[in-house]
Amino acid sequence: MNDKTVYVCEECGQDSVRWVGRCPACGKWNTMKELHVRQDDSTSAVTRMAMAASGADVRTARAVPVQEIQADREPRIDMQDAELNRVLGGGLVPGSLVLLGGEPGIGKSTLVLQTIMRLKGRKVLYVSGEESARQIKLRANRLGGDADVLIYCETLLENIFAEISSVKPDMVVIDSIQTISTGSVESSPGSLSQIRECAAALLRYAKSGGVSIMLIGHITKEGSLAGPKVLEHIVDTVLQFEGDQHYMYRILRSIKNRFGSTSELGIYEMRHDGLRQVDNPSELLLSDNREGLSGVAIAATVEGVRPFLIETQALVSTAAYGTAQRSTIGFEGRRLNMLLAVLEKRVGFKLAQKDVFLNIAGGLRVTDPALDLSVIAAVLSSNVDAPIDADVAMAGEVGLSGEIRPVSRIEQRIQEAQRLGFRRMLVPHHNAQTLNEKEYTIEIVPVRRVAEAVRELFG
Ligand code: TYD
Ligand code: MG
Repeated sequence: MNDKTVYVCEECGQDSVRWVGRCPACGKWNTMKELHVRQDDSTSAVTRMAMAASGADVRTARAVPVQEIQADREPRIDMQDAELNRVLGGGLVPGSLVLLGGEPGIGKSTLVLQTIMRLKGRKVLYVSGEESARQIKLRANRLGGDADVLIYCETLLENIFAEISSVKPDMVVIDSIQTISTGSVESSPGSLSQIRECAAALLRYAKSGGVSIMLIGHITKEGSLAGPKVLEHIVDTVLQFEGDQHYMYRILRSIKNRFGSTSELGIYEMRHDGLRQVDNPSELLLSDNREGLSGVAIAATVEGVRPFLIETQALVSTAAYGTAQRSTIGFEGRRLNMLLAVLEKRVGFKLAQKDVFLNIAGGLRVTDPALDLSVIAAVLSSNVDAPIDADVAMAGEVGLSGEIRPVSRIEQRIQEAQRLGFRRMLVPHHNAQTLNEKEYTIEIVPVRRVAEAVRELFG
């Protein structure tokens, strides 16, 4: 057998025949890792086991004329969880390979275990390389549910396929891909070559056997662990579970989906008895007693395709030390600096000597540019210590010349604000032109420039 060595970037999965210090694709330094691949025998022993477990020939696919391909909507497995179904694009596709990534301790095992414990009528094999059967049982007791779940604690992929062949499950969970290894590859579990080989074998099995597989993968805060980045290329769907461990909210996002949109989002709340679906995020994210507080502005944001209202909190104070501090939680720091520069230059507020702290309540991380207007409003409100009326919501992106730029899905944002009892909403002028104001009971206030918004809010 003839081994060939290639180098693969652990950040983006790019490969190269020679070692290079810097990845030619993503430009990161020192990310190219050595990988051994078999040259003469492309189907490794474990892949052959995967094919055998699925009962398929090594070569099953044949070329088919495109007109003859049946392309009705793929059947979907209802996961009995509205948030998860939505993020998957309408349920789990049979024969698909899904990666659920997230930082350790965020709740990946909890989410998957609670889901499969409620999946009636399907035989699910839960393979754990991290916890003992007893630990899983204790967790399952907390989560409730009584579906047909088989727990198998094993880390060697060959044994896992042997078990799969004998129990013939409808769905397999691997918790986590970093703990699984195969004898076909020499390196240690969790290494790039192990992860690639194991995932490829699992993919073969999923595709030829029509069995869905869910892989759980850890990523660190910097997203730096080898596995998941490389895995993204192999799997059909990548879901990311995120949130701050100190807060109870968790967001499930799809960042790649061969069977659906990637703009969907699921929201959960971590409780002592598992994750609860949150159907009404706004009601949880807004605090009741914000009346009369300065430095608080409510933004009507959209994450994915879901509108919700969120509290932007700012604290502006005179810098105690020479240089002013800028600190943000849940919002991009560079964007805050840009918005502060706009306030200085276009509206004439002197903030250079001030510390500015910005926080998105609830521990959410928001990327919607429509939050700009509320960030500016919260900063000004704190700076002059004047509260914004509690029944005002806003949405608008702020440009470098202080103009308020249009935002997406304005109707949904307004409807959500109206539903939650807000009475006034500041919207970009450009968006307002397309609206039929008679459709809403909430007062719509179009604004063109930051200065105009400031007048509307603070008189
Ligand atoms: P876990 O699912 O083990 O995280 P991961 O698999 O992503 O590493 O969840 C870990 C945290 O969740 C742990 O700190 C305990 C907490 N938790 C709850 O708050 N409620 C629960 O019902 C369960 C099962 C866990
Ligand atoms: Mg876990």
